Amino acid sequence: MADTERQDGTIARQARAIWERNSAFWDTQVGEGNAFHLELIRPAVEGLLAPRPGESVLDLACGNGVYARDLADQGCNVVACDFSRAFIDIAMKREDGKRRTNPIDYRVVDAAEPEQLAQLGRGRFDAVVCNMSIMDIVDVNPLFEWVPRLMTPGGRFVFTIMHPCFNHSEAVFASELDEQVDPPRIQHWLKVSNYLDIPPRKGLGIEGQPELHYSFHRPLSEILNLAFGHGMVMDGIMEPAFPGNETHDERHTWANYHTIPPVLAARLRLAARNL
Ligand SMILES: C[S@@+](CC[C@H](N)C(=O)[O-])C[C@H]1O[C@@H](n2cnc3c(N)ncnc32)[C@H](O)[C@@H]1O
Repeated sequence: MADTERQDGTIARQARAIWERNSAFWDTQVGEGNAFHLELIRPAVEGLLAPRPGESVLDLACGNGVYARDLADQGCNVVACDFSRAFIDIAMKREDGKRRTNPIDYRVVDAAEPEQLAQLGRGRFDAVVCNMSIMDIVDVNPLFEWVPRLMTPGGRFVFTIMHPCFNHSEAVFASELDEQVDPPRIQHWLKVSNYLDIPPRKGLGIEGQPELHYSFHRPLSEILNLAFGHGMVMDGIMEPAFPGNETHDERHTWANYHTIPPVLAARLRLAARNL
């Protein structure tokens, strides 16, 4: 990918168009929560965010709104946004017929555009959440610049991402039949050939999606140094893996890796010196 394409917005436009085309499929797969969401993402986010009824919460890059609805069901006042109009339409359709005293405020907002983030309102949110999207956003500088401004002074920002150490395009599943033990067993491996220098490329999020989408791998130091540079500190982290020890027939699945986390969840706050 040429730097010019990134700078002139070509990639951003293509990325959005791909998400528009993948949105209906994504919605059928995620629905009100697939295994990844219900077993890994949601418990980790709930643990770190600890949302309280009446709080004002922003869900950035909300997709079909699966987590926004959960927050609203818990009594939070939720603003949920995504840069894909198709996803926002789907999310709103899922609200049809629901009578809430705290309706979700769904908006089309590009999280890579500072002016659009600014319009969400300074100092307005007790908490901001961004699930499984930071690695999909072409430029995350505006997000890390604006999240601290959008939050109340004591606000918390919780994000989940594909674990940058283990879950990326240059980490591949491998398995081996060990016949030296009785009974023979299949051993699962993860082969990581790169971490620091993976270029942006298109990849698969959910098996069967109509089109590969852009992914912008960022090592942990890149993500966290951005947050630290914008006055935040990290005070919580979780690395959820699928529980249990059973092996699934479908060999190359994260459900077989009980001690390697496919997801990383972190909580950031404004550093005390910036309050
Ligand atoms: C993997 S999906 C996650 C969706 C949702 N948060 C969830 O957990 O199901 C990534 C989402 O990021 C959104 N996205 C990508 N780039 C974005 C941007 N620049 N601004 C806002 N949303 C963006 C996509 O439209 C998509 O909904």
